[in-house]
Amino acid sequence: MMYDGDSRVFFLDCDPGIDDALALAYLLARRTPLVGVGSVAGNVDAARGAENARRLLRLFDRGDIPVSVGIDAPDGAHVDDTAASFHGRNGLGGVSLPPGLDDVGSSSTPDTLRSLARTYGDRLHIIATGPLTNLAQVLADDPDFGNRVGSMTVMGGAFSVPGNVTPWAEANIASDPTAAALVVQSDWNRLTFVPIDLTYTHLFSRKDQTAVRDLDRPELETLCHIVDFYYNAYQDRFLGRYIPLHDPLAAAVAVGDVVVETATRGQVTVCVDRGERRGQTTLSHTTDGKITVVSTVDRQCARVLIDTLAAHWR
Ligand code: BDR
Ligand code: CA
Repeated sequence: MMYDGDSRVFFLDCDPGIDDALALAYLLARRTPLVGVGSVAGNVDAARGAENARRLLRLFDRGDIPVSVGIDAPDGAHVDDTAASFHGRNGLGGVSLPPGLDDVGSSSTPDTLRSLARTYGDRLHIIATGPLTNLAQVLADDPDFGNRVGSMTVMGGAFSVPGNVTPWAEANIASDPTAAALVVQSDWNRLTFVPIDLTYTHLFSRKDQTAVRDLDRPELETLCHIVDFYYNAYQDRFLGRYIPLHDPLAAAVAVGDVVVETATRGQVTVCVDRGERRGQTTLSHTTDGKITVVSTVDRQCARVLIDTLAAHWR
């Protein structure tokens, strides 16, 4: 579907992934003008990620949204080794969804991003909830890409807390630190990071999950079934009652449903050394800093997520 006028349009670059699935459900429920979904190797490989996205879109009756297959772990990048224990081997908690519709586009995610930037220019807003491999490929050929699109919001980084895949690195950055380094060195109209420092304070409880189940919709029941795996994965950390809303929070910040209260603007650096700090993100505050790292927001993401699903499916 082509969106006319001067309104914003969004592209979700993701690695579904259980919290990616929640982010997608949320974006669809609020009728976000989504001009495409792209996959990238992260929680699963890129082909599986695209397949998962197609299946999720069909589940939510939006099989019309084009899905592109992204880059599969170039040299130095990898599918996150720990991901299967959090997202299941198929990325969706072992839940098998019916296949997506057949008529998906054949262009790759980097090609799709280039083409969307030509079509929509600064109306295009990218939400990246996986490793930044696709974006790095686009920037390698077209260093000015970030200045021509409206914004990019990245779920990623660990600035003042330990990483979640190594003591230093957060999963999306750790999967492809070289790509993340190129992204932060590039110029952007607006580049925002929603790091785990913040997302680990936005939890979705079993009670929240029950509130979604109580909406009594088959597609939401399936989503809750997928999410069950995530509770088990976080059992030790949160005693099984909570999961973090990493990707939904980045999506909610990107669309403006949660408003940034405090943030630091500065320059982000990503460690690309082969040592133990590989993937570490560091923020240096500068007055003319171009990158925003979000510290606090005005609402709990769980509330926004439940209210949005309820408004759409009640
Ligand atoms: C990020 O890593 C992935 O496992 C999640 O989907 C999220 O995007 C959190 O560190
Ligand atoms: Ca993700």
